[in-house]
Amino acid sequence: MMLKETRIETKSGRELALMREACAVVVETLKALARAAAPGISTAELDRIAASEIRRRGAKPAFLGYRGYPATLCASINEEVIHGVPREDRRLKDGDILSLDLGASVDGYFGDAAMTLAVGEARAEARKLMRTAKEALEKGVACARAGNRLGDISAAIQLHAEGCGCSVVREFVGHGIGRALHEDPAVPNFGKPGAGVRLRAGMTLAIEPMVNAGGPGVRVLEDGWTAVTADGSLSAHFEHTVVVTDGDPLVLTEGLF
Ligand code: MF3
Ligand code: CO
Repeated sequence: MMLKETRIETKSGRELALMREACAVVVETLKALARAAAPGISTAELDRIAASEIRRRGAKPAFLGYRGYPATLCASINEEVIHGVPREDRRLKDGDILSLDLGASVDGYFGDAAMTLAVGEARAEARKLMRTAKEALEKGVACARAGNRLGDISAAIQLHAEGCGCSVVREFVGHGIGRALHEDPAVPNFGKPGAGVRLRAGMTLAIEPMVNAGGPGVRVLEDGWTAVTADGSLSAHFEHTVVVTDGDPLVLTEGLF
């Protein structure tokens, strides 16, 4: 019987060191953005901060120009799920929740992370959604161990999010990462334990649950990028870049949230 070939690469120590540098730039930049994210600031201004913080650290934006994406940062507000395109006329308001997603590269190696934060004071429903999405990511990351299967990560995320009365987006998924922003395998936020490819030490994954307070459906706006919930409910997004090892998962974007 033919076994299914997988093209999932494992990375060397040198490669992981460069990914770690890229991830540190992503984390530092996202932290600067979180400090700047106050009522009144536009998402275009956040994008300029992101670009300058990345470049002054000698790294490159990973999203700008990727499949034609027009900015450095994805800034998605409230019912926007991901790929919110920064705009001069989109200003943050007190009580918004803001998802910031950012990628950078150093010497051709990539890091990618995301987080959702409250602008000023968010409502209890929004805080619960953010907590659920972050916990779902943590549950998924904990399953990123050599010998486990990809579906173990997916199932852990889905189980937690749905167990908290939320839903996971199906149309957008996590991914392998390293020499490119997106590598094999796709890392869905839904699935069955024990299914999918077996994880090996040295695999590098961007795990990124998008969790909706209402139903899982999404649609993309006329700008061709911004994905919003179909039912208008709030959405939250957390992402880490993670290395599978023979022991505990190594989170290269650790310390972000
Ligand atoms: N973290 C998201 C992803 O990996 C953001 C990509 S934005 C894009 O899909 F502009 F690069 F597409
Ligand atoms: Co990603």
